[in-house]
Amino acid sequence: MCRSHIGIFFALVGIFWATVVQGAPLTNEDPVEVINFYELFNNPDAHLSLANAPDTTYYIKDHGYPAERHYVTTEDGYITSLFRIPYSHNLQNQDVKRPIAFIQHGLFGSSDVWPSLGPDDALPFLLSDAGYDVWMGNARGNRYSRNHTTRSINHPDFWRFSWHEIAYYDIAAAIDYTLSTENGQSQDGIHYVGHSQGTTVMFVLMSSRPEYNQKVKTAHMLAPVAFMDHMDDSMVNSLSPYLGFNNVYSKLFCSQEFLPYNDFVLAFMYSVCLPGSIVSSFCSSSSGETTVDQGRTNSTANSVISGAMPAGISTDQILHYMQEHQSGHFRQFDFGTKKNLKVYGTESPPDYPTELITTEMHLWYSDNDEMSAVEDVLRVAETLPNKVMHHMEDPLWDHGDFANNWEVRHYINEPIIAIMNEYEARTESASVN
Ligand SMILES: *[C@@H]1O[C@H](CO)[C@@H](O)[C@H](O)[C@H]1NC(C)=O
Ligand SMILES: *[C@@H]1O[C@H](CO)[C@@H](O)[C@H](O)[C@H]1NC(C)=O
Repeated sequence: MCRSHIGIFFALVGIFWATVVQGAPLTNEDPVEVINFYELFNNPDAHLSLANAPDTTYYIKDHGYPAERHYVTTEDGYITSLFRIPYSHNLQNQDVKRPIAFIQHGLFGSSDVWPSLGPDDALPFLLSDAGYDVWMGNARGNRYSRNHTTRSINHPDFWRFSWHEIAYYDIAAAIDYTLSTENGQSQDGIHYVGHSQGTTVMFVLMSSRPEYNQKVKTAHMLAPVAFMDHMDDSMVNSLSPYLGFNNVYSKLFCSQEFLPYNDFVLAFMYSVCLPGSIVSSFCSSSSGETTVDQGRTNSTANSVISGAMPAGISTDQILHYMQEHQSGHFRQFDFGTKKNLKVYGTESPPDYPTELITTEMHLWYSDNDEMSAVEDVLRVAETLPNKVMHHMEDPLWDHGDFANNWEVRHYINEPIIAIMNEYEARTESASVN
């Protein structure tokens, strides 16, 4: 099994970044610069105090909307947080039935990413003003879901999970929870929106617990990630040959907290994402330089996002993605032959049977997405019996744009809400007849 010695971990992080730098095509600076980031811990600009950091309710209430925080305990004991905009103060619709919309963040994110574009553009506010009961999930391990009924977050056992468990336990529990509330009890299901890892967990849940298909009315996959072998990201390309298999590297790296939500990591991210930084190419894959340079993201939204990410994940989530990149399969975690036999009864992990997903799946994808290659999106789409494809016409639209491009209202959010409204109108008239 994997080792959890902290020194080994940091040594490995060193290897990790050295590999990134060596693998990055455009850098020929002196590698000594890599070490300088440690000094940034003393940089007051980068040093954000998180003791009293606001939570998602703050970003919601800031715009006048009501906000709630709910704690949901999963079958395997993780205590996760959901945030909710129960109704719209503009509509005063608290006493009428509101269809449920559930939104799930991507890797490194949290519910904080959703309200950041403000009430004119951000999906939760638009959904609320369209009459929905809006919920935002938080995957186990992120800043809002760091608690367990019996495990300490300082023990590797807490961090022994990947996005398989986030799907199988956290998302399942969240869906059931929203349907158990006073507003949810009379409803058959929810509408789901996920970005990136938020789509992976949907594919996993609906294929491995197919009974959940009954509980999801429409699902919107923004920048869908299932198969990954065509993905072309410089960091993953340089690391997955080492970490995408069960071997000495991946054993050292596994089941630990990666990029926890704390001052040090924010300082670190702040430094590496500065223009001209030796590894700044890493930042462009989320909310960094390419989007900012091209003016595709509003700067206020961007500063909120960079203050809110990364929100804490397990290294196993990264390993699992790198396994996909190497194997070309969309399948469960690879523990190595011996443990696979014990856990799955087969030498290789089982593939996710995505053909069992009967929910109405909407796949929103683009040509310039460095994480979700078009070939990989089409490959999973081919297996889905009930899908609608939405190809972005903007050729520059990238992975992060699905969440925070300043035109996301026009291209993504309004069309999604129209599809949900249409579904509600259809089922409403069906039940009247
Ligand atoms: C974790 O959950 C337990 C049980 O619900 C609770 O008593 C405790 O205060 C929580 N700890 C934190 C740090 O939130
Ligand atoms: C966001 O930025 C775009 C492009 O600069 C601008 O047209 C738009 O008005 C901005 N939106 C907000 C809410 O500031």
